[in-house]
Amino acid sequence: MVTGALGHIGSHLIRNLDRSVVRDVVMLDNLESQRFPSLYNLPKGFIFKFVKEDILTADFSKHLKGVDALIHLAAITDAEKSKQIPELVEAVNYEGLKRVAGACLKAKVCLFFPSTTSVYGSQSSVVDETCKELKPQSPYAETKLNSEKYLQGLKKKGLKLVICRFGTIFGHSVGMRYDTAVNKFTWQASTGQPITVWKTAWNQKRPYLYLGDAVKAINFILKKDLFDGQIYNVVTKNFTVENVVKTIQKFVPKLVMDYVDSAIMNQLSYEVDDSKFRRLGFKPTGNLKQGIAEKITSLAMIINKD
Ligand SMILES: NC(=O)c1ccc[n+]([C@@H]2O[C@H](COP(=O)([O-])OP(=O)(O)OC[C@H]3O[C@@H](n4cnc5c(N)ncnc54)[C@H](O)[C@@H]3O)[C@@H](O)[C@H]2O)c1
Repeated sequence: MVTGALGHIGSHLIRNLDRSVVRDVVMLDNLESQRFPSLYNLPKGFIFKFVKEDILTADFSKHLKGVDALIHLAAITDAEKSKQIPELVEAVNYEGLKRVAGACLKAKVCLFFPSTTSVYGSQSSVVDETCKELKPQSPYAETKLNSEKYLQGLKKKGLKLVICRFGTIFGHSVGMRYDTAVNKFTWQASTGQPITVWKTAWNQKRPYLYLGDAVKAINFILKKDLFDGQIYNVVTKNFTVENVVKTIQKFVPKLVMDYVDSAIMNQLSYEVDDSKFRRLGFKPTGNLKQGIAEKITSLAMIINKD
């Protein structure tokens, strides 16, 4: 089962699941994001079932019959906007996770939980999973950290799970969203708008994850049955905003910059070490140019060339 299957990651995952491991796919989404096109033209060779349900109300005892693993992608994901709707974010991301995880424990279903490298917050040095001083900077990141802690408790009760702290996703999918840095900048540049960069962010390093690498990581976990209760950072590379903007500039040379304030821009630079996951044999293969090129190619017809 994939919850939140129609979203940015889910819509790419359901098209790229490893056929040697997966045959039946139950896709659960409440269509909050209205991403109907994510269900169009799914690949042949799988048995797909779509369930329009909310994780806060769905009867998982019914839906989890015959399910071996649940990839829990459903969440309210816009970190910046989460400051305006903290109660909703708490309900869906934390209470929702509790419902899903409780159902998995009861039905003996393995759980994949995508956390975020944003749980690290501002850090002066390179951080890995052993970092004790986590400083989430938004209600979104706080719910992810609280969910991680809650899951540690269920692990002791016998839930088979794995937690991946994903870097910020970049790369094209049919259900993609545009509130995260690389996607937003690419959209702005492609549509002739100024790129809105947070005033303090130009040289700050942050961890990013190519969408293809995120899906590859989920397939890797399913194939290896890696529900070992561990937390893994999953990152393609740490980039600065300058790296991102200069790469976009290769495709849209005339882009304009606009420096803006942000409620969460006090978040300082941080770099994330993902060697724990790589040591298991996982090799990310994405790169910034490729991820940006995919999006620019999809938008090529509307890019202003004047
Ligand atoms: N995209 C990133 O940069 C990133 C980075 C780290 C972690 N993650 C995590 O990965 C997961 C997927 O991210 P994404 O970028 O695909 O998000 P997304 O916002 O694109 O997709 C989330 C999906 O969940 C659905 N949804 C929301 N509330 C729901 C509810 N109550 N019941 C059922 N469905 C609901 C939405 O309709 C949407 O299709 C999230 O948990 C997110 O926190 C994402």
